[in-house]
Amino acid sequence: MTGSLLNTYQRSKEDSSDDFIFYAQPRFVYHLDDAFRGRLTQLYRDRLTKDLIVLDLMSSWTSHLPEEISYRRVIGHGMNSAELEKNQRLDAHWVQDLNKNQNLPLEDSSVDACLMVAAWQYLQYPENVAAELKRIIKTGGQLLISFSNRAFWTKAPRVWAEGSDLDHLNYVKDVLISQGWSEPQLIAEETYKPGAISFLGLKGDPFFSILASNN
Ligand SMILES: C[S@@+](CC[C@H](N)C(=O)[O-])C[C@H]1O[C@@H](n2cnc3c(N)ncnc32)[C@H](O)[C@@H]1O
Repeated sequence: MTGSLLNTYQRSKEDSSDDFIFYAQPRFVYHLDDAFRGRLTQLYRDRLTKDLIVLDLMSSWTSHLPEEISYRRVIGHGMNSAELEKNQRLDAHWVQDLNKNQNLPLEDSSVDACLMVAAWQYLQYPENVAAELKRIIKTGGQLLISFSNRAFWTKAPRVWAEGSDLDHLNYVKDVLISQGWSEPQLIAEETYKPGAISFLGLKGDPFFSILASNN
């Protein structure tokens, strides 16, 4: 990526209709399997302490946070109000199409940690969102971006839909660095099905995460 980060083709997607049409009906399903979700919740357990103000950007009816930890405040954002209302972790939420408007309605330095799960892959203007996240996350705060190898492919911009898992990691990293974030930590791991069948060693959804600090 040089010059402008993304060209018009890379920002385009197969289904260019209004994103609110696609998200009009609530989806009370898990988008990722139990192996992935278990790994994600463990990441949060390891990285997020209970005194934090957390933003779950591009959320749904679940935030994957560890049940045993009560955070100072959890703010959610998404595309479907019924999903967000059902999300028991959220103290507040709002609905906004980030492909139409990337300005986040939050004060400067007002959030300790921002989570994005199976989310970045739908952004057509990720550099603007990355800049906004740098503005609203406190100095020393965290940005935790996690995803697997699935997507609603018709709604993913071509830069994502046509890339490999490794391309996705490098792409998110490059966008963050372009907006002043320092070199993030990258995680790429296999996951394994938990529970009674764990002895079979069955693989789950692969786990990718990009952990950035607002230094
Ligand atoms: C696959 S779901 C993942 C939801 C949630 N993070 C989770 O882990 O279950 C993708 C989410 O991306 C968000 N999203 C998709 N397109 C968006 C857009 N144009 N603007 C804002 N958010 C969008 C919605 O919140 C949608 O629920």
